[in-house]
Amino acid sequence: MNIIESKLPNVGTTIFTTIGALARQHDAIDLSQGFPNFDPNPDLLKLVGEAYKEGYNQYAPMPGVFSLREMISQKIETLYGTHYHPESEIIITSGATQAIFTTVSAFVQKGDEVIVLKPAYDSYEPSIELYGGKVIPVELEGNNFKMNWDVFKAAISSKTRMVVINTPHNPTGTIWSADDMLRLQEILRGTDIILLSDEVYEHIVFDGKGHESVAKYSDLASRSMICSSFGKTFHATGWKMGYCAGPEHLMKEFRKVHQFNIFSVSHALQMALAQYLKEPKHYLELNAFYQKKRDYFLDAIKDSRFQMIPSSGTYFQLLEYSNITDENDTVFAERLIKEHQLASIPVSVFCNEAYNQKFLRFCFAKTNDVLDRAAEILNKI
Ligand SMILES: Cc1ncc(COP(=O)(O)O)c(C=O)c1O
Repeated sequence: MNIIESKLPNVGTTIFTTIGALARQHDAIDLSQGFPNFDPNPDLLKLVGEAYKEGYNQYAPMPGVFSLREMISQKIETLYGTHYHPESEIIITSGATQAIFTTVSAFVQKGDEVIVLKPAYDSYEPSIELYGGKVIPVELEGNNFKMNWDVFKAAISSKTRMVVINTPHNPTGTIWSADDMLRLQEILRGTDIILLSDEVYEHIVFDGKGHESVAKYSDLASRSMICSSFGKTFHATGWKMGYCAGPEHLMKEFRKVHQFNIFSVSHALQMALAQYLKEPKHYLELNAFYQKKRDYFLDAIKDSRFQMIPSSGTYFQLLEYSNITDENDTVFAERLIKEHQLASIPVSVFCNEAYNQKFLRFCFAKTNDVLDRAAEILNKI
């Protein structure tokens, strides 16, 4: 029998699947994986139903429905001031995950180095490794996960092909400021490094702060592939709809992979989203909606023994538990499920082995009754 040499020898089942299964087994309240437990706006669902009935049931155009690409182009230009040509600079993808994977596969070659800031969302590294790239981790520092720009600069070498950034940041709920973006822009200026900018939580930013898209910074925009998610923005993660925006010379390469990687994504969903995006409040009101949820959750656990810095964006809140136990976060997260019927994600799964802080990540994109039940448990621990 042939022995198959795994292309991803160190990859097992993702923690989200493992924790989800354990949560179900113990009938736990599940604040682990990042998805809402409520439906998208009924108006959007109506548009989807209509699109199916109107016969949008066959292949969509390869780069996506043009009217949807036009709406995205308008949205980016209005919010961030850069024009992306709908024909040549925007492609509709199967969620941000495919946008990320296709970006990596279009540009990362064997031996290339890719800088990934840790903790990091878990899909970047396997994608990079599949294409023979080498991940160069740079740690975000301290309890507030700050970027150390000197360390970042030192990690860049002649082999650096790509840098992956993510603001608002999963899992920490931190956001980057204009100063961070300007610092990044200065460091990358004059290099041919490509930036993969994961902006799936662009519409979930709190406390009146704005989202710092790479599209606001011309030198960054000229080297960036922006990966975005309708799933996160419209409470429809199960649809796996997203898009990628980038300058034409990079998009040309992305498109070559995209056409064989997936060719095109749901026609009916694209038609519905194109209509729905015509009303900007559908995405602009998300900041306030989720800020209310964050505040509701934090207020409900304010007397608990957990420590917290309020999340600045995303729908995740980190809770620090060093007042409660010395256990490492995986052991504590498992015990929370088995003994208290509450599921969260240990932050170490997004980190390098040396990481030893004591944070769990909770998703507050849940109805208030679920947040109340979770808070009741957290307050007793
Ligand atoms: C930071 C980040 N990027 C990308 C994704 C994937 O987005 P999508 O569901 O649109 O593929 C997620 C989903 O959790 C995420 O948290």
